[in-house]
Amino acid sequence: MNTAIDKANQAVEKLEQQINKQYYPHFHLAPPAGWMNDPNGLVYYKGQYHAFYQHHPYDENWGPMHWGHAVSDDLITWRRLPIAIAPDHDYDQSGCFSGSAVDNNGELCLIYTGHIWLNGQGNDEHIRETQCLATSKDGIHFEKHGTVLTPKEGIMHFRDPKVWQQQGKWWMVVGQREANDIGQVLLYRSTDLKDWIFDQVLISDIDPNVYMLECPDFFPLGDKWILMFSPQGMHAKGYQYRNRFQSGYIVGDWQPGKQFTVIKSFQEMDFGHDFYAPQSFLAADGRRIVFAWMDMWESKMPSKHDKWMGAFTLPRELILDRQNKVRNRPVKELEALREKPQSLTNITLNNELKNTNIESISCELNVEIDLANSNAERFGLQLAATPDGKQATLLYIDLQSNRLVLDRSLSGLDLKGYRSVPLPRNKKVTLHIFVDASSVEVFVNKDLYSLSSRIYPKLPATRLINLFAENGQARISKLESWQLKSIYQ
Ligand code: FRU
Repeated sequence: MNTAIDKANQAVEKLEQQINKQYYPHFHLAPPAGWMNDPNGLVYYKGQYHAFYQHHPYDENWGPMHWGHAVSDDLITWRRLPIAIAPDHDYDQSGCFSGSAVDNNGELCLIYTGHIWLNGQGNDEHIRETQCLATSKDGIHFEKHGTVLTPKEGIMHFRDPKVWQQQGKWWMVVGQREANDIGQVLLYRSTDLKDWIFDQVLISDIDPNVYMLECPDFFPLGDKWILMFSPQGMHAKGYQYRNRFQSGYIVGDWQPGKQFTVIKSFQEMDFGHDFYAPQSFLAADGRRIVFAWMDMWESKMPSKHDKWMGAFTLPRELILDRQNKVRNRPVKELEALREKPQSLTNITLNNELKNTNIESISCELNVEIDLANSNAERFGLQLAATPDGKQATLLYIDLQSNRLVLDRSLSGLDLKGYRSVPLPRNKKVTLHIFVDASSVEVFVNKDLYSLSSRIYPKLPATRLINLFAENGQARISKLESWQLKSIYQ
């Protein structure tokens, strides 16, 4: 019996009785109670999808990290499993940090970072991080095997191993903070998941301000290799890099035994406020799917008052386009959640606010905007809106800046600010929108851009969809909507 895991499971069960569900997602994976951050160990194993996550089961704040665990048959609906690993050995005593999972001939192997605070919690100057291994035969109960990879002398920040199998070998990428605060991703190889040989530095020093690359992932997409990671330290530049930390990717070429060559330098993956630490995995049919943590370090987190915190994004399929841009779009399986379809066509707005009767607490929208017949300065949708529009998350086209804007200034509690992407040059713009109890995800022209942001409407309040146009006319050719069923069935 593993007492640390038992204690943690009991703690989270107790905390679950205290949570307030007013902002709790209906169709996003979130912890039963307590804290969640990065997706970990995403894997298709013995016919099921396993999702683990950074988890603090004792309260709503980040603390000694455990791995929470959930399992799904369809990628959409999830069943909770007991906590998989707890920080209960000398090499991971301060936390089981992020990592990945692989199926090794029927054994589910977790490769994660054992974290130790050498000089008190939060003192980042004195830590020890090593990569550790845990295995399971049933996919639920794990046995730890200790440290399998240590950093070179003098390195402290060395974490978030992502492992995959290729050409009969295991490969691992790890993020590292080099001397002089340079962020790097290192590649290692192994024949048994236990002895790891350094292969190469895949990327180093992508930007003079970047000091650490967290949560690296490396995978083929189309005919290229994608190095995805979450850099820390980038400075905002115009509309770019606005969040505390970024997440994105570099496109290149690689094969075992060769150097990684960069074809296209760093690009952001999502343009909302809350998207971090994405991790990818292969679906049963070979699609490359990604989940990210739909929050941002150091942001206001109002659901902490409700004794839970953190959620994943929707699962999204990745596609590489001809311009070497990685596009992401919600997986088609999500359509199974739809109910109560409604459809409106050819709506013309003349300098007005128009109510619809579409509820937006747990909904999906498909909107087609006819740009050729729109000349209002700003026009679009109010999401999670009160009928008078005084509280709403604004999603609009700004014809002065030629951008699509997601604006939280009237959204409700604590979170403010807007994010935006260039307006596509087409005559029609489509917006695929998912609104949950405390989030908005927008996919522009199917998968050209995505924006993911948390919102916390002040409650109690009705949450509807309104349409608006300011100073001119706007034409919405189609507005389809569905209410979405809960994924916790
Ligand atoms: C990213 C991260 C990882 C680390 C984990 C700790 O959000 O900082 O680098 O492993 O969170 O919870």
